Amino acid sequence: MAEGRLAIYPGSFDPPHLGHVNVIARALAAFDRVLVAVVGNPEKRSLFTPAERMEMIRESVGDHPNLDVDQFDGLLVDYVRARGARTIVRGLRAVQDFEFELQMAGMNRKLAPEVDTLFMMTDADWFFVSSRMVREVASLGGDVSQMVAPSVLARLHRRLAER
Ligand code: PNS
Repeated sequence: MAEGRLAIYPGSFDPPHLGHVNVIARALAAFDRVLVAVVGNPEKRSLFTPAERMEMIRESVGDHPNLDVDQFDGLLVDYVRARGARTIVRGLRAVQDFEFELQMAGMNRKLAPEVDTLFMMTDADWFFVSSRMVREVASLGGDVSQMVAPSVLARLHRRLAER
């Protein structure tokens, strides 16, 4: 990746959906470099492995010279510091996200005062989309083809069929 102002966009991305893709595209327009950081989630049972989630992010966004995708474990602020970044990007949907995000941003700022969290309001098209809902709707036979990239849709169907 080229040098310049770096933003880290962390999350579970289980699976990545088009709301995530929208935030990544906008972060790429606002920063020189964007690093999407997939949490390892050792304590949380996820549908996809971190490696699969990283692949799906790349498949959803396509190649971009200023975009990198990585996995992290442990504290987010430790990872942000290790990568030499000062900005965390998070997407905000409706009010239900606010309390959790406020708490997380406050905790991260207490732990690492030099790191700021920057919020992007999710575009109206995606304000109702979450990974949890995508998993649930798909597992019950609902159509999520408008909410995830085609390759993610195929992987979702394959994974759910294996269960
Ligand atoms: O997509 P998500 O699940 O809303 O992302 C949450 C995430 C991964 C950003 C958050 O759980 C996180 O940062 N986890 C790493 C552990 C950590 O640093 N916890 C303290 C944050 S307050």
